[in-house]
Amino acid sequence: MFGFKSSAAKDDSHCLLKEVGLATLNKQHLRLASYAVEFSQIVDELSAREPVNEDWRRIDALFSKITRFVATHFSEEEELMRKYDYPDYVAHKKLHDKFSAEMRKMQAEINNRNIKFKKKMSSLLWDWLYHHINEIDYRYREFFLSKGLS
Ligand SMILES: [Fe+2]
Ligand SMILES: [Fe+2]
Repeated sequence: MFGFKSSAAKDDSHCLLKEVGLATLNKQHLRLASYAVEFSQIVDELSAREPVNEDWRRIDALFSKITRFVATHFSEEEELMRKYDYPDYVAHKKLHDKFSAEMRKMQAEINNRNIKFKKKMSSLLWDWLYHHINEIDYRYREFFLSKGLS
């Protein structure tokens, strides 16, 4: 378990990320968590005021960093699953594709400078951390460990 703090975490102060067995993937999950924290900080700052150009530039930069990272992470995770014939590969990939589609929708809202993206983006990222990593990714832990990976 990795713990990290954020005001956006559902239990109000603390989010626990499960270890999924592979060091590289754990590291990538932690990086995603740190982006979610970074994103929440911007959202917190904007709770009391309208975004100015500088805020949008920060949002653009962070969002493209997250998008690139998520694409890399998904392709590495999927490649490992294909390589070792993970039985749940197809269903798992579908969830990755769904998340990527949500990210594209979010990108369109950001491009349109629609501030409503804020709330959606926060819940998308936090749901991902709580649900996808801790429940869906966690399922491949034993499988990869049984293949001798660590
Ligand atoms: Fe993952
Ligand atoms: Fe995954």
